[in-house]
Amino acid sequence: MTTDERPTTLDHQQTTNDQRPSTTDHPYTLWGGRFRKAPDPGFWALNASIDVDRRLALHDIEGTRAWVRALGRAGVLIEEEVQRLLAGLEQVAREFREGVFAFHPSDEDIHTAIERRLREIVGPLAGKVHTGRSRNDQVVTAFRLWMRDALTHLDARVQDLQAALLARAEADLDVVVPGYTHLQQAQPMLLAHWWLAHFWALQRDRERMADLYPRVNRLPLGAAALAGTTVPVDREALARDLGFDQVIPNSWDAVADRDFAAEFLFVAALLGVHLSRLAEGVILFTSREFGFLELDDAFASGSSLMPQKKNPDAFELARGQAGTLIGLLTGLLATLKGLPSAYDKDLQEDKAPVFRAYDLLDALLPVLAAALRTAKVHPERARALLRDDVFATELADYLVARGVPFREAHVVVGQVWQKAEAMGVPASRLPLEVYKALHPAFEEDVYRVFDPMYALARREVEGGTGPKAVRRQLALARATLDRNKPNPPKEA
Ligand code: ARG
Repeated sequence: MTTDERPTTLDHQQTTNDQRPSTTDHPYTLWGGRFRKAPDPGFWALNASIDVDRRLALHDIEGTRAWVRALGRAGVLIEEEVQRLLAGLEQVAREFREGVFAFHPSDEDIHTAIERRLREIVGPLAGKVHTGRSRNDQVVTAFRLWMRDALTHLDARVQDLQAALLARAEADLDVVVPGYTHLQQAQPMLLAHWWLAHFWALQRDRERMADLYPRVNRLPLGAAALAGTTVPVDREALARDLGFDQVIPNSWDAVADRDFAAEFLFVAALLGVHLSRLAEGVILFTSREFGFLELDDAFASGSSLMPQKKNPDAFELARGQAGTLIGLLTGLLATLKGLPSAYDKDLQEDKAPVFRAYDLLDALLPVLAAALRTAKVHPERARALLRDDVFATELADYLVARGVPFREAHVVVGQVWQKAEAMGVPASRLPLEVYKALHPAFEEDVYRVFDPMYALARREVEGGTGPKAVRRQLALARATLDRNKPNPPKEA
């Protein structure tokens, strides 16, 4: 099952206040026996997590089906019971897949909803699925199963954005732009080099996802509430059944640990930061002042007041949502930091930020990829941006090649810039006598350093922005694109 088959969002009406259980009729809960009163409606609404965790439905059923098989292997259920429960659970899953599952106002969370529905289908036998299990190990099992799919799906999204950056680099291979440090013109650079810089940042994000995957892929089920199940299930077999790599060795840790959720949010936040840095560049380069990048009309929006405006909203949202993603990470870390028990209800706050982060990125990544693929580059405008400033390093190197120590050359070229400013002409148009007066090593050929191709050709070092080096880098990027997937297909 993929995350694309997430259960549909069902009618929100079904959990609105007017349909909450009244205080006189006790709702169907998994814990009602010791209570003489029905829950207060306000408390019920606060406590219920169904609006958030309903999207775990299919993963929760997957975990429960494996638990039923484990109970069968342990001799706790007879084969006929196993088969009836599995068939019933399959029907519930089908209802979710088809978007026809009917929620009930008493469905406190997704686990309750599924068990309630199973009881409607198979009768009291449904009461046996929870034998030896707690919602504490159940929920975190479903969450981990969900996250495996989420990582696989997000990885494909990031990979597609990388492919878009690669396509850009290929298309813009010969486009020369000013390279900036401190947002001041520094040295000439190929635009392809800049696109590829962002490619590699995303590659690290994918490495992090692949690295996180095995830590997600561990089995909590069988930990029960905190101390371990009393049913003699074979947890290794259960792990294999669910495709987990290993059993979490400590039952307390199994239900308490949300590192995987925090790590997911860190990966998401850093990915968000990378998208934001890319976006900031795109926002600058599409502005009139830079103007060498132009978004397709389909990926920009206008102003209600100023008819001329074409705004890079998608990229501004990427920049803004990076802030949201960082907040989701710090929020969960703050939730986790003081928890004394194996399970505290605080942990119910773990899923909303993870789902939110996932949804943001799931919506953002394909839009950015498409916006980059359809953007137009204006090489002549990029070229026109180059000021003589970007050749100052070349000029210093020119003197160095003629035996002048670099420190001295640095000072001399600084004086060239002073002179140019004082005379109100660019350095490339200072007369030769001025150069010679500043240092005798300057000769007629000094003017050839004021050519970006000259500067680029001198940077063919591995990883440099020289045209040949960038072509080699491009080939490396292309070869890297298919690596580091999380969940690599297992050898048969
Ligand atoms: N809805 C709960 C959650 O998301 C399920 C676990 C409930 N466990 C409990 N002991 N009340 O965390």
